[in-house]
Amino acid sequence: MSDVSLYYETLRGPVQAVDSVNLEVPKGEAVGVVGESGCGKTSTSICIMRLLPDNIHTFTGRILFDGRELMDMTDSEIRSQIRWREVSMVFQGAMNSLNPVIRVGEQIVEPLRVLDKVQKDEARERGVARMRQTGLPAEAYRMYPHELSGGMKQRVIIAMALIMSPKLVILDEPTSALDVSVQAQIMNLLKDLKREEDLSMLFISHDIALTSDLCDRFAVMYAGRVVETGEAEQVLQDPQHPYTEKLLASVPRLRSDVTPEFIPGAPPDLVNPPPGCRFHPRCPYVMDICSKREPEMFPTGDGQYAHCWLRGDEHG
Ligand SMILES: Nc1ncnc2c1ncn2[C@@H]1O[C@H](COP(=O)(O)OP(=O)(O)OP(=O)(O)O)[C@@H](O)[C@H]1O
Ligand SMILES: [Mg+2]
Repeated sequence: MSDVSLYYETLRGPVQAVDSVNLEVPKGEAVGVVGESGCGKTSTSICIMRLLPDNIHTFTGRILFDGRELMDMTDSEIRSQIRWREVSMVFQGAMNSLNPVIRVGEQIVEPLRVLDKVQKDEARERGVARMRQTGLPAEAYRMYPHELSGGMKQRVIIAMALIMSPKLVILDEPTSALDVSVQAQIMNLLKDLKREEDLSMLFISHDIALTSDLCDRFAVMYAGRVVETGEAEQVLQDPQHPYTEKLLASVPRLRSDVTPEFIPGAPPDLVNPPPGCRFHPRCPYVMDICSKREPEMFPTGDGQYAHCWLRGDEHG
């Protein structure tokens, strides 16, 4: 997607939730979108799915998917040709929104039944195959959500996202509600799926450490902007944006005496974001220019980019 902006209309004025975001998910790769709560991660993903609330103020940019321009498609074309079929999404908290009175198998195959009018028996066969693939026993097809553990419910949601064999799956905080060992199992499942299915993934998380194992690349978001992109390993080892540096320093490390640091200050109000670089009020390296002009995405080598004047050559 390039130059995508999504502003919400509110009583206080437009909320700049997504601002001029550029993001690319190469085929078969997983891109991790990380950043603090409220930085616009979910908003970015609903732009791709075109699942927008009613209070939209601005929605602009280009979203190219597999050679097609999604922004030129109508809502009904997106619904019939793209959603579930080409791009599916595991929503934040989705495992708690399974319908309690419908058997989980039927919920998994619902997209097939509704969009492709697949007959019941064939749908069940395909549903059970996806359940096996996501580590669920065939018996679970006839169970109700309350009979499943949290980890199993999340597997149900993932099986549903895969049911129409999409090329891109967007996963919004898919493990946040799970305990650590179940989290690890789900991450392993996603790694297997990515390999077996040649799936592209957009993995949204506030936990950069958890994400690093699965993702090939990272896009770090701050206050509606992408502030750093690069190969996962490189971003972790050698962050180029001060915000990424702070985000990494705030991750508690096992068996380490280093106390995690907190990022001082609070994220900005997106109705009235600070001028220039949005991170400058919290940045330890702030310079004169930072509050005056917005930086570009400066290349810092090996495909890594940072939206920061420290990496530009025009500052001072
Ligand atoms: N429907 C809406 N109307 C108005 N403002 C909204 C709406 N949805 C989100 N916002 C605001 O847009 C900004 C971005 O929200 P978003 O949910 O995309 O963040 P996020 O990065 O996914 O956060 P989290 O990590 O908490 O899920 C926030 O300031 C939020 O309050
Ligand atoms: Mg979110």
